[in-house]
Amino acid sequence: MNLEDVVKVTTGSLTARDRVGLQDFVLLEAYTSESAFLENLRKRFHENLIYTYIGTLLVSVNPYKELGIYTKKQMDIYMGVNLFELPPHIYALADNVYRTMLTESNNHFILISGESGAGKTEASKKILQFYAVSCPSTKLMDNVRDRLLLSNPVLEAFGNAKTLKNDNSSRFGKYMDIQFDHVGGAVGGHILSYLLEKSRVVHQNHGERNFHIFYQLVEGGEEDLLRWLGLQRNCQQYSYLVQGECAKVSSINDKTDWKTVRKALTVIEFSESNVESLFAIIASVLHLGNVKFIADSREDRNIYTNGQSQLLLLGIPTQVIQVGLTHRKIAARSEEVLSPFTIDHAVYARDALAKAIYGRTFTWLVNMLNESLANKDSSRKTVIGLLDIYGFEVFNVNSFEQFCINYCNEKLQQLFIQLTLKSEQEEYEMEGIEWEPVPYFNNKIICDLVEEKFKGIIAVLDEECLRPGEATDMTFLEKLEEKMAGHPHFITHKLADQKTRKTLERGDFRLLHYAGEVTYCVDHVLTIFHLQVMRQSKNAIVQLCFPTTEPDSKKRPETVATQFKSSLVGLTEILMSKEPWYVRCIKPNEGKQPGSFDDVLVRHQVKYLGLMEHLRVRRAGFAYRRRYQIFLQRYKPLCPDTWPNWKGTAAEGVQCLVKHLGFKPDEYKMGRTKIFIRHPRTLFATEDAFEVCKHELATRIQAKYKGYRVKGHYMRQREAATTIETCWRGLKARRERQKRAWAVKVIKKFIKGFMTRNQPVSVDNSEYLDYVRQNYLTRLKESLPKTVLDQNTWLTPPPIMKEVSRLRMYLNSGAHVVLHLQIKGLTSSLFKGRKENYPHSVSRPFVDTRIIISFHAFPQYSVPVVKYDRNGFRPRFRQLIYTGTAAYLVEEAKIKQRVQFNQLKGVSVSNLSDNFFILHIQSEDIKQKGDLVLQCDHIFEALTKLCLVANKENCINVVQGSIKFDIQPGREGFVDFKSGQETMIYRAKNGSNHLVLYGINCT
Ligand SMILES: Nc1ncnc2c1ncn2[C@@H]1O[C@H](COP(=O)(O)OP(=O)(O)O)[C@@H](O)[C@H]1O
Ligand SMILES: [Mg+2]
Repeated sequence: MNLEDVVKVTTGSLTARDRVGLQDFVLLEAYTSESAFLENLRKRFHENLIYTYIGTLLVSVNPYKELGIYTKKQMDIYMGVNLFELPPHIYALADNVYRTMLTESNNHFILISGESGAGKTEASKKILQFYAVSCPSTKLMDNVRDRLLLSNPVLEAFGNAKTLKNDNSSRFGKYMDIQFDHVGGAVGGHILSYLLEKSRVVHQNHGERNFHIFYQLVEGGEEDLLRWLGLQRNCQQYSYLVQGECAKVSSINDKTDWKTVRKALTVIEFSESNVESLFAIIASVLHLGNVKFIADSREDRNIYTNGQSQLLLLGIPTQVIQVGLTHRKIAARSEEVLSPFTIDHAVYARDALAKAIYGRTFTWLVNMLNESLANKDSSRKTVIGLLDIYGFEVFNVNSFEQFCINYCNEKLQQLFIQLTLKSEQEEYEMEGIEWEPVPYFNNKIICDLVEEKFKGIIAVLDEECLRPGEATDMTFLEKLEEKMAGHPHFITHKLADQKTRKTLERGDFRLLHYAGEVTYCVDHVLTIFHLQVMRQSKNAIVQLCFPTTEPDSKKRPETVATQFKSSLVGLTEILMSKEPWYVRCIKPNEGKQPGSFDDVLVRHQVKYLGLMEHLRVRRAGFAYRRRYQIFLQRYKPLCPDTWPNWKGTAAEGVQCLVKHLGFKPDEYKMGRTKIFIRHPRTLFATEDAFEVCKHELATRIQAKYKGYRVKGHYMRQREAATTIETCWRGLKARRERQKRAWAVKVIKKFIKGFMTRNQPVSVDNSEYLDYVRQNYLTRLKESLPKTVLDQNTWLTPPPIMKEVSRLRMYLNSGAHVVLHLQIKGLTSSLFKGRKENYPHSVSRPFVDTRIIISFHAFPQYSVPVVKYDRNGFRPRFRQLIYTGTAAYLVEEAKIKQRVQFNQLKGVSVSNLSDNFFILHIQSEDIKQKGDLVLQCDHIFEALTKLCLVANKENCINVVQGSIKFDIQPGREGFVDFKSGQETMIYRAKNGSNHLVLYGINCT
């Protein structure tokens, strides 16, 4: 974006209404015409545009109505935006001051000036509120912020009053420092007050009031408090409150304000006792005002007092007060004598005392506020000062205070001239910049008229006050006319008559008016005696305000004018060390009316505020200048030739930079050491471009840095990976080596085993032989001959496996053996692991038959058995014969019972070592015999044969516990099998005729 674009964008964001008139008087064509100036101000005022710039100076016209332009949203809009990018606003100025302070780390002040009621105090509050919202915030800072904000209502209660011009007129000058830490957080504050209008305590003009706090206390104070203070809730009771005849004003709510002040005092951490002492003083001042003096004819007294008893609040004995209020101490020869007052003197002295008490209490209050705002941290701070100072004014009759105020304004004008006009022109000269000098009125001559040593008005006043004898306004005036007669800016009514009719200019002192009350100009009416009386007070604040350490010097104290002069010198010093910013407040009409613009009144203020002069200098001059080095240092990123470093001189660098930025020749000038830029907008455009570029640069630097960081991280990771890899490889290599070593050992052993395979088994060959054996058996398993009789397909066994050869030989020995083995195999499948005495039977060869017998059918197998009777379970020796179709029970060739195989339901045996078996026979006929309970020494052989002959391989059940059987069809019996030492067969003792138990030994 080049500069022009930036300007376009920023002006583009304005609405039509915002563009009414000119936002900046610098752009005014007829910049020397007061009328054109007024015209612009009026036009904008009628559109409720109360703010207009003259360069960086802000002109503000009091709208006398709420405009809704001080919201949080507005604050946000103005935060961090350049002055000329948005419509003029007090927030824009505040924000620019703040940001300049932060970027340049220097101190600033904002001078707010204008007539009473022009909106100065409001402006300063707006600025403070803006900072309260926009500054970074922490708990501590919030605390400071609250105190800064709340110090205002307290100060206003004690220092502001209703005047004819302003219902909330500040009756003191105020300079407030806000301190910021290096990141811009508000961390502290300090208040300086100037010349409180103390005379208001004892006297108010018609339509004006005393300081707010008196009314707030009387109207808002709690019942208990008022009772304790001896006050009545009625302002009319107090002579100090009624002179203006307007104790009640519609625009002021004393009750609410009282609450605000009480709360503020708490937040600012005034102790309860301090608050009590404070209000005791305020009440005492009211009581003091009510003290009456009455003529007394008695000896050594002229007068006596009435109503002083309430002053006990101050903790001074009544007697002391009584004497104090009616006498003064004078030195007569070597001793001090009390001399009685006249009534007039006494009243005067009473008022002087009231003023002194109130004035000193106000000073104490400011000190307390400062204590509470003080930042104890000693680290470097930058400050923004807010100067809310009373405006220059000329009345028909001007009080002494107005004289001081006008003097103050002259001093500030002088400062302004020094800071802007004079130094500016001098600088152009020094820098060799071509420049048409702007004629301006240097008011130094006026300041000298007032403050010059021995010759100035203040010096004459001091002299007049301090000289012995009666000093009056007239004697003072005569002195002045005598001494100042020739001065071009000094005029009195008398002198005015002699001179040509000269119109008054700003700064001319029309002294007659100021000289109204010379006697008020000196404080010394507060006699030493008064001081001594006050020092007896028990009130903590009074004790601080009237310290015993204060010298009761015989020397007269400094006059108020001199004190004021010194305080102004102090203020000037404070301000000279800071960068100035200005807010000029203008009052549009005398009636506090919204929407009314009084041309004459405004023209008058424009003139006294020096706005035209300011504009002329702004137009002629350059808004901005910076040393080449600093300018180049800041903006060098904007040009590729100057970034990152410029090789030549700074001036050449700036020239190159400026050319690159496209500055027009009339927009800037190159001085000896500095560049001068005519319009602020050129600078702001540059600043904006820098702002954009800064982010780009930051991004680049950030990217580089991030890259650097990530690379570092990557390198570390890579290193770590390499380390892990190395360790892992080492581990793997070691494992591999172990494995190889093991393999070598195994192979060696194998070879050795092979070589010794035919030797007897030893450590050398045992493993090898195992292997050979295993290997052979595995192979054999996969290629077993189809039948045992197959001779040819046997694998040749290795020499060590002679057993196999033997097995083969055995197998080869005959078919009947094979058959026998097959039958044995069947037996095994029926009983192995199920019946306990099966293993004994394995080695006993089966025979074809046990008994040679002649039988009507061909007997397949026969064996002797014992049959147990069904009724008495008596044993009977029988032969069991199997034919192709049935089993027979025979006794000596006589068939006792025939069991068709197809009637055989099954055979039960126990799992124990007995030789019993039960043939379960299927039968429906009740007359038929039941199941057969038999015992046979060749039980495995007999049962296996039965399976084969009857072709019932699944008929045998091996049973645990009891076997149930049919004694007769439908009649059940049991055989119980139990383990024991010997074989015993007996009938159960408890059993009935048909329930039978047998115990079987299992040896
Ligand atoms: N910006 C503003 N917006 C609205 N009203 C304002 C503004 N400035 C001043 N006023 C009104 O004018 C009155 C006087 O203003 P103030 O700041 O006390 O004057 P000064 O301090 O210059 O004597 C305020 O009480 C308020 O009513
Ligand atoms: Mg004010």
